[in-house]
Amino acid sequence: MSDRTPAKTAKIVVITGATRGLGRAMAERFMEAGHTVLGCGRGHAEIARLTRKYVKPHNFSTVDVSRDEQVQDWAKRLLAEYGPPDLLLNNAALINRNATLWEVPPDEFQRVVEVNVVGVANCVRHFVPAMVARKSGVIVNFSSGWGRSTAAEVAPYCATKWAIEGLTQALAQELPPGMAAIPLDPGIINTDMLQSCFGSSAASYPTAEVWSRTAVPFLLKLGPKQNGQPLSVK
Ligand SMILES: NC(=O)c1ccc[n+]([C@@H]2O[C@H](COP(=O)([O-])OP(=O)(O)OC[C@H]3O[C@@H](n4cnc5c(N)ncnc54)[C@H](OP(=O)(O)O)[C@@H]3O)[C@@H](O)[C@H]2O)c1
Repeated sequence: MSDRTPAKTAKIVVITGATRGLGRAMAERFMEAGHTVLGCGRGHAEIARLTRKYVKPHNFSTVDVSRDEQVQDWAKRLLAEYGPPDLLLNNAALINRNATLWEVPPDEFQRVVEVNVVGVANCVRHFVPAMVARKSGVIVNFSSGWGRSTAAEVAPYCATKWAIEGLTQALAQELPPGMAAIPLDPGIINTDMLQSCFGSSAASYPTAEVWSRTAVPFLLKLGPKQNGQPLSVK
């Protein structure tokens, strides 16, 4: 897709985990609406494909959000070129393979925490100071139904999403007026992540593409009034 005419109030939208699933679908809807998307993911090949397909002003970069130095370099480069984002969507996450908590190997438990919690803190650390200096912008940290309830065999994932709820509400108390930090439960959507935990029954849920047609207009309406409110895409 080539550059679109910018929307009347074109926003700069940072999306982590933009290569697949909800992040990818959101990126496409924001770009269609004339907003600028700055996305990341770990997969080199998919980032290269996105870069070929969606030319400037959009930008897709290979970044592992759990690596603070990678996030620092990425944020530095983007802030210099685009200024502070209007929307920072901390979407990237992993889920553990279904298993009782006592069966989850230590490295897998650690990896889920590193991406889902440390990764969000890394993005906040490197993007939010510029947003605070401008006193505007909305940070949406992707939580889950399992950030407000629990289920067997996904304890590591539940632990990280409950952490995201607390982390985000504390962050909301730190922001100046004019900004918002919001923990968001996106709903239940048929993505690679859902297939990992629901198996074949994931197919009975909406696709990310269908979900994004409701989610993106919802995200574009968020502002300071929603600061600290745990929200859900309905
Ligand atoms: N799908 C649902 O029903 C559902 C329900 C509740 C909450 N959520 C939440 O919604 C968000 C998106 O979920 P999804 O279903 O779209 O998951 P997904 O299909 O598994 O996609 C996850 C995305 O995150 C990226 N990612 C993973 N680790 C990363 C890392 N270390 N650094 C950068 N990017 C990374 C992946 O790309 P690479 O592999 O290229 O890195 C991919 O683009 C997550 O926060 C999830 O917890 C989803």
